[in-house]
Amino acid sequence: MDIQNWVKPEVINQPAYRLKTVDFEIKMNQNESPWDLPQTLKAEISDKIQNTDWNHYPDLISTKLKKKIAKLNGLKDDQIIVGKGSNEIFQAIFTATLSKGEEVCLLSPTFAVYQILAEHLEAKVINSTLNKSFEIDENDLLEKSKDAKLTILCNPNSPTGNLIKRDLIESILQETRGLVIIDEAYYEFSGLTCSSLIDSYPNLLITRTFSKVFGLAAFRLGYGMMPTEFSNQIQKCMLPFNIDVPCAIAGELVLDHLDLFKSRADLIVMERDRMIKSINAIDGFLAQDSTANYFLMSGKIPPKELFTKIGSSGILIRDVSSYPGCDNYVRVSVGLPEENLKLLKVLESLNEI
Ligand SMILES: Cc1ncc(COP(=O)(O)O)c(C=O)c1O
Repeated sequence: MDIQNWVKPEVINQPAYRLKTVDFEIKMNQNESPWDLPQTLKAEISDKIQNTDWNHYPDLISTKLKKKIAKLNGLKDDQIIVGKGSNEIFQAIFTATLSKGEEVCLLSPTFAVYQILAEHLEAKVINSTLNKSFEIDENDLLEKSKDAKLTILCNPNSPTGNLIKRDLIESILQETRGLVIIDEAYYEFSGLTCSSLIDSYPNLLITRTFSKVFGLAAFRLGYGMMPTEFSNQIQKCMLPFNIDVPCAIAGELVLDHLDLFKSRADLIVMERDRMIKSINAIDGFLAQDSTANYFLMSGKIPPKELFTKIGSSGILIRDVSSYPGCDNYVRVSVGLPEENLKLLKVLESLNEI
């Protein structure tokens, strides 16, 4: 069979999204929460799931969950949309707004999914490349985003962990003729959100996720905040009944425990800064500053080897050397304090070889 006759070249030419793995005891490769939910909360969620009707479809637009998210962010219910992870929200926004040949402005490097989705729609990706220290060339970004139909800013950026200043975001919002999506998947660790700008800029859309600080990566849940005019349209590009009952219940109940997740985020931030400092004190290793729950690290040995050597100690990290500008780097997600200590010990032992 000649697959070219059937599938678009944009898809055929795309490498599949893969994740390199090893047998591990400690998982530091996907920026997840290192803590599972407390058993009491899991029991509460399970109990509620158990006591719903499984034979009926869920609420079409997750009304209760939306209401909670809106209240939490000081927005109206109809400014929120809920998706199967923030990935589904990106997909819906892209589908609703982008046609073949239209420009999407991205930082480079950044989260890989944006480019994958743009290619599916045959849009044209324009990159604003970060410098060697992963800082933004502000003039270049302002220039490139000006005429782009869509600009996506991951804040803090992934995989670099650096923060895009609010002033720059406002300048882009003012100068571009297009839409700006801010991906705030890790904002709980940086403390910077642009949610208060939503009512001031008609071209601003923000996405968030339950997969990181809220520890619900297994459930697939994310949300978008935007002007009502947009949410009405973008909802049309998500499949009916996209949010299943277990996801909606889990999302609603974790939002009743914000203090727990705030204290977890604070601990991760402390651990992150301690780790970066300790790694930089080990000869031959360099950890980049970060505002998220992960950071880039380079060593004397190439990233592929570093991935394998650290992996052979049972610690799974992310080899990001295929990302533009990241040739020398692996990415480490901040773990539990004892996991972080173990990684530091492994790095020290690698240095002794
Ligand atoms: C920057 C960024 N945005 C979005 C996502 C996707 O999150 P979700 O699990 O909500 O689809 C990730 C996941 O790793 C991410 O790193």
